[in-house]
Amino acid sequence: MSELNLILLGPPGSGKGTQGERLQADLELPYYATGNILRAAVREQTELGKQAKEYMDRGDLVPDEVIIGVIAERLGTHEAEDGFILDGFPRTVGQAEALAERMRALGRRITAALLIDVSDEEVIRRLGGRRTCPNGHVFHIEFDPPEKEGVCDVCGEQLIVRDDDKPEVIRHRLEQYREKTEPLVGYYDERGLLERVDGTGSPDDVYESIRALLATLRMEEEA
Ligand code: AP5
Repeated sequence: MSELNLILLGPPGSGKGTQGERLQADLELPYYATGNILRAAVREQTELGKQAKEYMDRGDLVPDEVIIGVIAERLGTHEAEDGFILDGFPRTVGQAEALAERMRALGRRITAALLIDVSDEEVIRRLGGRRTCPNGHVFHIEFDPPEKEGVCDVCGEQLIVRDDDKPEVIRHRLEQYREKTEPLVGYYDERGLLERVDGTGSPDDVYESIRALLATLRMEEEA
């Protein structure tokens, strides 16, 4: 497979970030997680962060025009030449259309949109125990605990509970997902790009499914 241009799709808390980190380490491709990019912008109080903060705090999506340029710019860089992993983008049909246009302009195509499938009950369990560090590394107090409580295994930073992981905000994020992002399942399916991954096993089990799927895609391309 000449290049691997992957999209991670799925409800909040389905494990996109968890699997994205593994894919990034394994495939050595740039990993663009819009949630992480936006949270860093909020912390650094940049113009982007100021525009995004109130939407994120409420669990709403930031407007398309705010986020599309952020990703379009990265896809044209040298580091993304051999492929990329997108997590949390696109999240609306408008964003998907903008991504398709950007890929056409670059003479490239999306390899696959991987949908990580989990139930709402599982999402609530997962987000309720999530801990993250300021650099976006993800843990769970029960399912994926750090070696030392409250400290990131990767960068040693203190772990925190994300502001949008409060129960009422989680519910709103799920509603936003159903209304605005779930239509992308049909969008990518119609284009032959959707691959479903059962997200209910352990993080290692889910990753094994993703690896198997990527191996199949490679074999299909070479056949
Ligand atoms: P974002 O950060 O992208 O949030 P999200 O999509 O809601 O996804 P999460 O980060 O909550 O979950 P995840 O699927 O990555 O799961 P994780 O691996 O952490 O976006 C935040 C906000 O930014 C949005 O609400 C919006 O305002 C804005 N935004 C971002 N992109 C945007 C866009 N394109 N357009 C507009 N607005 C945008 O896992 C969750 C927990 O479960 C962890 O604790 C983990 O350890 C655990 N876990 C993971 N896998 C498993 C497993 N298999 N078994 C058990 N536990 C597991």
